[in-house]
Amino acid sequence: MNTTPQLANVQCETCHGPGSHHNVDPARAPLKVDLDSELCGQCHQSCHGMCGDYYHPHYEQWSTSKHSTALAEIFWLPEYEESCLACHSTDYRLAPEDDKPAASDVLFSIECVACHRARGSQHVGQLRLLPEKLCAQCHTMGNAAPREEPDRPHVEFLHGVGGYALDGSPFPQLYTIPYMGIPGECAGCHVFREDYSGPDQPANSGHTFESNLLACEMCHAPGDAEVRLADVRAEIEPRLAGLAKYLDPADPLYVNPLTLTPEQLTQYYIARFDYEMVDADGSFGAHNAAYARLLLTEAEAFFGNLP
Ligand code: HEC
Ligand code: HEC
Ligand code: HEC
Ligand code: HEC
Ligand code: HEC
Ligand code: HEC
Ligand code: HEC
Repeated sequence: MNTTPQLANVQCETCHGPGSHHNVDPARAPLKVDLDSELCGQCHQSCHGMCGDYYHPHYEQWSTSKHSTALAEIFWLPEYEESCLACHSTDYRLAPEDDKPAASDVLFSIECVACHRARGSQHVGQLRLLPEKLCAQCHTMGNAAPREEPDRPHVEFLHGVGGYALDGSPFPQLYTIPYMGIPGECAGCHVFREDYSGPDQPANSGHTFESNLLACEMCHAPGDAEVRLADVRAEIEPRLAGLAKYLDPADPLYVNPLTLTPEQLTQYYIARFDYEMVDADGSFGAHNAAYARLLLTEAEAFFGNLP
């Protein structure tokens, strides 16, 4: 209260502007609603470092994250269409079901209010959902199955679901110890807050959404998780590269699906799907090393045994 009196008593009008006209005649003077992160950034920032390292750089860190460009990055792609917006635009997400904006009219990426409620909620951090449900709304491959592409299968990977055995049956869930115990799931590792604790440790709001290895120290000794992470990556990466050769028309090992029997073709799509899940997850085993091994072994069994 002494140093930032301007932040006291954040009221309706702080965010919605003067409301006396709206109060008298709501129909003629609709409420001004601003979804831009800049609104929240007026207060939730560390003045781009100028106020000192001990404030909470939510806005600055969010601005460097891919969430802040999620719409701008796809707006000009030929594939751009309304179906993308449920995950790439805040104004689209928050609009009522019967009044969605057109794809050409949306303005906002994944802003603060895509994840937070402005006026409190029953969840920690004023989140719209429990943290373990929040990220999974968008970071999911949905119901993708072989012959389709498993895009962004992060939550499926973490929970060890979604992959198929070559006989066409889904693998039983492989939900392993490391990944069950983390409070908040994705947020536990990817939104890790560090308070200012001296000149060597400036405040970190966790809003770059990069994974933070300090989150691992709940269970691993300091440094141990980093070594294990590097080991797992050194195992998974070459196996991915090995499988990529069978799918690359320019490679001598390329498998042309047109040359396969119908039985082989069914298995080909399963093997390709399992490989693509590991590839698209992008964590090189960090999200579930045992599941990555299971899927890669299945894909290798198919491609490795072709005549
Ligand atoms: C910290 C900023 C902030 C404060 C404080 C705030 N609001 Fe909001 N409000 C927003 C934002 C941003 C939205 C749009 C996003 C959403 O619906 O969550 C919104 C949405 C609304 C809506 C829905 C409007 C619509 O057209 O969908 C109403 C009504 C509303 N606020 C009223 C209030 C009232 C009344 C108060 C004070 C008790 C208040 N707000 C305080 C930021 C704020
Ligand atoms: C005028 C300054 C101001 C604006 C604008 C503002 N906030 Fe805040 N906000 C605060 C202050 C101050 C607190 C701390 C309140 C406390 O700790 O009692 C806070 C607290 C929060 C919290 C923390 C709740 C918790 O559990 O720790 C969240 C989340 C939050 N605000 C989100 C938002 C969002 C989203 C917006 C934009 C829609 C916004 N704020 C706009 C000043 C502001
Ligand atoms: C179910 C939610 C969802 C839908 C629908 C969705 N995306 Fe995404 N998209 C994401 C998430 C989450 C990421 C970030 C994860 C990643 O990089 O794998 C992402 C990343 C991207 C990227 C950058 C990373 C990359 O893969 O190269 C592009 C480009 C993209 N999406 C385009 C699109 C387009 C175009 C559409 C519509 C045809 C679309 N997305 C529909 C959630 C979605
Ligand atoms: C992709 C989702 C997402 C977006 C976008 C996002 N946040 Fe958060 N935010 C979180 C999560 C998750 C937490 C952690 C909640 C918890 O477990 O305490 C959090 C925590 C917070 C807190 C609580 C205090 C703290 O640091 O622990 C504040 C304040 C906050 N965010 C402000 C913002 C502001 C301001 C923006 C926009 C510049 C923003 N957030 C954008 C997901 C998000
Ligand atoms: C509203 C949908 C949505 C929600 C909710 C969401 N994300 Fe994202 N996320 C995206 C999209 C879309 C992208 C890709 C943007 C781009 O590349 O242009 C992305 C990108 C990312 C990236 C960067 C990926 C890369 O390729 O570099 C990370 C990490 C990430 N999100 C983590 C999280 C975490 C952790 C949460 C929950 C706290 C979360 N996201 C919640 C939609 C979402
Ligand atoms: C055990 C901690 C942990 C949990 C839980 C976790 N992640 Fe990760 N995540 C990581 C690590 C470690 C990496 C690898 C980072 C690297 O390669 O630098 C990673 C990588 C990623 C990437 C790709 C890296 C990038 O920036 O391109 C995305 C996107 C991502 N995670 C999103 C999520 C989502 C969404 C969830 C929840 C479904 C989640 N993560 C759960 C630790 C975790
Ligand atoms: C809730 C506790 C917990 C957390 C948090 C945790 N781990 Fe683990 N981790 C474990 C356990 C238990 C094992 C299995 C121990 C063993 O194999 O000796 C493990 C094993 C691993 C392995 C080896 C997997 C394999 O099969 O080769 C890696 C890599 C790993 N952890 C990385 C991380 C990283 C990176 C983080 C933080 C981003 C993290 N862990 C956070 C509990 C945890």
